Amino acid sequence: MFSNYAEKQRLVKVPAGEQIIYNGNGIPTFPEGSILAEIFFYCNDARDVSLGKKVIETRLFIKADGLWNVATYVWNDTQTDAVLVLDGLNKSVSWINKLGNNRSIMYYIPNPNECVSCHQTNKQVLPLGPSMRNLNIDVTINNQAINQLQYPQSIEIIHPFDESQVSQIVDYYDTNAPLSARGRAYLDMNCAHCHNPSGWSRPAREGYDFRYETAVNDTKILNDKEKIKEVIQSGEMTYLGITVVDQEGLDLIVAYIIVYKII
Ligand code: HEC
Ligand code: HEC
Repeated sequence: MFSNYAEKQRLVKVPAGEQIIYNGNGIPTFPEGSILAEIFFYCNDARDVSLGKKVIETRLFIKADGLWNVATYVWNDTQTDAVLVLDGLNKSVSWINKLGNNRSIMYYIPNPNECVSCHQTNKQVLPLGPSMRNLNIDVTINNQAINQLQYPQSIEIIHPFDESQVSQIVDYYDTNAPLSARGRAYLDMNCAHCHNPSGWSRPAREGYDFRYETAVNDTKILNDKEKIKEVIQSGEMTYLGITVVDQEGLDLIVAYIIVYKII
């Protein structure tokens, strides 16, 4: 998901001796005591990572008594400590991007209710990223390419399962992938957590279903092409969390819905 150009590191902790259980293409079942962390940071100069980074916040999902608890911690300027956020807050951030441009934005850190607006399915708080189909990509570990579903099986943090059953989603910045799939992947990753029939009731009411697997005629994309472009362009969407327009994402959506025939 686009997050104001922040880079993100994601970590998973599974208690010793416990295992994640495969449960189809979606989010697997994590054992009691699991922790998922997402660390948002900006490289001081994205052209040279050795020049250091600024960590802004660390978001957590902690499973206790069968339920996921959410929290985020904001880091101090000296990067020595982070404190729990109970009310949303703004923080100004500056960095130099990959093109060498100075960027400066007001970054917004969400409050716990806002976490739940995005992270809910049938009124249950759930993680969004670690679905089996999202994880089904090759990664490089110790200089070797390995499928990201095989690796956790090899270190036994997930119970063995047949990964050939798991579907895939394209990387929306992969220019070798078909534009139709890239457009759908963008809408899935950035919009579908709110716009799907089992999500938060307010966006669900709009009747869109931006999930990748939904047949295009059932998504309402074709009915509202211009509106979709406009809400991204104006910064009105993604409704929560972003304070700056995702220019590259907008360019992709414009290409997807305007220039090419949607399939
Ligand atoms: C605008 C919607 C949105 C809001 C608000 C939001 N998240 Fe997320 N979050 C996502 C999406 C989508 C992902 C997966 C994609 C990604 O990581 O970029 C994610 C990923 C995560 C992850 C990594 C595990 C996972 O589910 O993928 C954690 C941990 C997390 N969020 C915690 C939080 C917490 C805590 C808050 C509130 C302080 C919060 N999130 C607010 C949409 C949101
Ligand atoms: C955090 C939840 C959330 C996310 C993420 C989100 N939306 Fe929305 N969206 C809403 C809500 C809520 C509304 C209803 C508008 C309102 O209540 O102000 C809405 C309304 C809309 C509308 C109708 C606007 C109108 O004027 O009729 C469109 C189109 C839309 N969203 C597209 C998107 C697209 C495209 C994305 C991804 C780039 C996206 N949304 C991401 C919550 C969300």
